[in-house]
Amino acid sequence: MTSPGPASQNLPPDQVFDWLDVEAEKRAEAGLVRKLRIRQAQEPELDLAGNDYLGLARDKRVAGAAAAAALRWGAGATGSRLVTGTTEVHAELEHELARFCGTQAALVFSSGFTANLGAVTALSGADSAIVTDKYIHASLIEGCRLSRSDIAAVAHSEPNAFKHALATRRKPRALVVTDSVFSVDGDIAPLEQLAGVCREHGASLLVDDAHGFGVLGEGGRGAVHAAGLSGAPDVVTTITLSKSLGAQGGAVLGPRRVIRHLVDTARSFIFDTGLAPASAAAALAALTALKAEPELATKVTEAAGNLAMQLKSAGFRVSLPDAAVISVQAPSPESAVAWAAACADQGVRVGCFRPPSVPDGISRLRLTARADLTEADVDRAVAVITAAAPPGATS
Ligand SMILES: Cc1ncc(COP(=O)(O)O)c(C=O)c1O
Repeated sequence: MTSPGPASQNLPPDQVFDWLDVEAEKRAEAGLVRKLRIRQAQEPELDLAGNDYLGLARDKRVAGAAAAAALRWGAGATGSRLVTGTTEVHAELEHELARFCGTQAALVFSSGFTANLGAVTALSGADSAIVTDKYIHASLIEGCRLSRSDIAAVAHSEPNAFKHALATRRKPRALVVTDSVFSVDGDIAPLEQLAGVCREHGASLLVDDAHGFGVLGEGGRGAVHAAGLSGAPDVVTTITLSKSLGAQGGAVLGPRRVIRHLVDTARSFIFDTGLAPASAAAALAALTALKAEPELATKVTEAAGNLAMQLKSAGFRVSLPDAAVISVQAPSPESAVAWAAACADQGVRVGCFRPPSVPDGISRLRLTARADLTEADVDRAVAVITAAAPPGATS
């Protein structure tokens, strides 16, 4: 006679997903239900929610390059990068990204997420310790989880905390992982100090420059370049092509031997269909536009500074931006959602971050500046955010 198994083994097929409804109810009670919104091609609202920092996503040079590449190479890459998914557009984009940022080489991935997964896992492993800032992006966290390394997530932007974790590690190799500009509050990591700490302890440094590339540094070369680290033999940078470059995809930049190692071992590179040629061509055209108009980068940080200062003067708890991202604290997840919705009703589209997307549990409006924001746009945004604010939003 067989012994009866646990109750879940006897579930009929129409009940195996019942636990999802229980979880959905818990999220609803906690104000954590998420909704997809369908964006229209032309929207009347002022957009302070997207990441098109340089306003290049709809630039005719960029969108036109994507259209031309799709007609020439087809709608998709047709295979992984190592089989049929590498075109001359991918090769040129890698060459130009490396040249622009001053690294030996670059490797294009299908997204910033897969670039981060590939870089973290390929540069660590069972013989490694990984020391991360505790506020790193989810894609880096997933890479750490897959890495089989010892992980220490340390205090935010505290070089001494990194130092202690490196000094007390039990593994021979070590990788330090940080965002350059943190995606929630828009503050910048102390990259030069972190590089110094890495060098004292024989560690390599991986910086996710998703929010710095195109915005910070000389002509938008990014935070790693601005810190004088982009050509360094022990530093690797990841970027996304989907924010400042207005396209889609991601890339890893660094020493040639790192890129060679990723081609041979990064699973999110090897077992993934290559980036669509249209996206690669769009990113290349956006990079060309940025090189021709380096002032785009400064315009973003000026607009962000102006917006943040005005919101601070209005009494909100605002992060002071180092790049394009600004956050405004909300009293609760529910009030953050209602606040963002009220702003949209009044013609200003803002983002909203709630747990689990906020590491400290504080819900926020998330605003992003763009190179093409005018002073009138900023004034209007501040007026709308103020009028729509829930009780308790100001201090
Ligand atoms: C800091 C950071 N890293 C990585 C990513 C992932 O990039 P992608 O959207 O290209 O996958 C994002 C974007 O959402 C991000 O904010």
